[in-house]
Amino acid sequence: MCGIFGCILKKGEAAPIIHGGLKKLEYRGYDSVGIATIDRGHLFIKKDSGKIDDVHEMHDLDDLPGRIGVGHTRWATHGAPYQVNAHPHTDCNKQIAVVHNGIIENFAELKTELEDLGHTFKSKTDTEVIAHLIEEVMKKEVLFVDAVREAMKRIDGSYAVAVISVKAPDQIVCARKESPLVLGVAKDSIYVASDIPAFLPKTNKSVVIEDGELVVLSDKGYEIRSIADWNLVTREPELIDWAPEAAEKQGYPHFMLKEIHEQPLRLRNTLRIQDQYLDLMTTFLDRAGEVFLVACGTSYHACLAASYLFSKLSFLATHPVIASEFVEQHGKSVNIDSTLLVVSQSGETADTLEAVESARLRAATVLGLTNIVGSTLTRVARVYIVQQSGPEIGVAATKTFTSQLSVLSQLAIKLAKKRGKVSHVEIEDLEESLERIPDIVEEIISSEEEKVKQLAKKYADRQTFFFLGRGMGSAVALEGKLKLMEISYIPSLAYPAGESKHGPISLIESGFPVIFICPKDSTHRSIIGNIMEMKARGASIIAIIEKDDEEIKELADDYIEIDTGLPEVLSPIPFVIPLQLFAYYMSLERGNDPDMPRNLAKSVTVK
Ligand code: M6R
Repeated sequence: MCGIFGCILKKGEAAPIIHGGLKKLEYRGYDSVGIATIDRGHLFIKKDSGKIDDVHEMHDLDDLPGRIGVGHTRWATHGAPYQVNAHPHTDCNKQIAVVHNGIIENFAELKTELEDLGHTFKSKTDTEVIAHLIEEVMKKEVLFVDAVREAMKRIDGSYAVAVISVKAPDQIVCARKESPLVLGVAKDSIYVASDIPAFLPKTNKSVVIEDGELVVLSDKGYEIRSIADWNLVTREPELIDWAPEAAEKQGYPHFMLKEIHEQPLRLRNTLRIQDQYLDLMTTFLDRAGEVFLVACGTSYHACLAASYLFSKLSFLATHPVIASEFVEQHGKSVNIDSTLLVVSQSGETADTLEAVESARLRAATVLGLTNIVGSTLTRVARVYIVQQSGPEIGVAATKTFTSQLSVLSQLAIKLAKKRGKVSHVEIEDLEESLERIPDIVEEIISSEEEKVKQLAKKYADRQTFFFLGRGMGSAVALEGKLKLMEISYIPSLAYPAGESKHGPISLIESGFPVIFICPKDSTHRSIIGNIMEMKARGASIIAIIEKDDEEIKELADDYIEIDTGLPEVLSPIPFVIPLQLFAYYMSLERGNDPDMPRNLAKSVTVK
């Protein structure tokens, strides 16, 4: 987690630019914020706990002198979100300032060693050891860049760091291991950041820094070297074709709402993924001895839905696994015949990457589906597909979920075709139906948003919700629950509906809201039975139904009616849309900020 940003300008003040860059990175963590600049041989720092706007209001983050600086927006790992723990962190003499994203596993040993050498620590963070380590090496009269390199060699764990020192007032030295770091290169300025949108308004030329590399930035440009052998690395900037406004709210009050509305467009893009990539991945899936679908959170729900798809269409049995459980559950049995299809929007989720690493060590094949070009997942996967959702800023995943489902559906259809398991007519129908999904989603948003908003008003004061579905609908139920819980903070449950009578039904009393996912598929009859069971015990039934489902309309207290006409295997995409909108409006009703749920961050890069 955490966002880092640094820049060197040929002229002008760096602090307002760093402040702007940090605003773009705020989704990565917003416990505290800080900026350090260098001017005329002095280090200047402002930092405090709280969101960027609040800290800026108190301290005026733009009012720091100098054309070089680094900044940080924090998601606390070591040390509570207090001012003293906010980055940048400094050495004993306030000559060096460090911003860091990641976790230093051996920081306790290093801290003891440095304290024994007389260093005084101010914070409870792991990061501060970096500043003192560099200070210690620099006592031997070595260059700043060499001191950063020596410090990095001592550190176990993950890091993306950017460091400045009054001893080298024209340089930012950065290094990366397992945490994202990219450069932005412009004519009169150079930037370093945790991700590309942070500097997109300034430049669209970007260089991805790889694990084990150190970079020196100056107003002459950048020099990349391997930390291990100090070899020079030549890497030219690539042009990024995201428009800067793609990362802005475009008139919507929140990124989440913008991203929900963007889904038709993004789903159209997802359908443009080149066949050669889909075909290659299909070939790997076809050959696999066993297939695990590995992911966390929303991406896991996409995997769960995909497991039904692969089974129903391609006759391929898969194991959907929550990434943080993978090593415990399958770490010993995974082998050269195993294939992992790993799904991660960010491509940087620590739990997911840990599962990947353990499988790779046992010679398994790793396939990746991600939204971020240059992410760690794209570098470790044998084959990867970029889902083409565009940057997602809202912490709650919405457009990336539906794009993941679209890609996974395309793969399942291709595999079905390859295996000859489904008739040509059926394949054609599935392919045509996939093409119609963007329009269907557009129609659902335009016709149902107001109704969902009213539903949220009606149920805003409920203390808990139950989400039930069957088959693929159970994956949608889980995703609807996650969305509601993470941004409205209402404790909720989701189950496959058939399982509800094995315990959870005891919760039901008069007025308990139960949301049913009711596509008109092979599960429809059984879902009606489950609705009856809940109704008989006094539950308030909210049903997401297909248009003209008169039977369920009769039973439900409230319903949202969607017109899909899709084959049953493609129902998850349209059915999740009302649930995303419901979570969004519930969050607003309860006075929350849906883009920045408490305790969460967009990219969870700690285990
Ligand atoms: O970047 P990833 O897809 O690997 O992220 C996985 C989860 O952290 C993520 O889906 C999370 O559950 C979302 N905030 C849910 O909205």
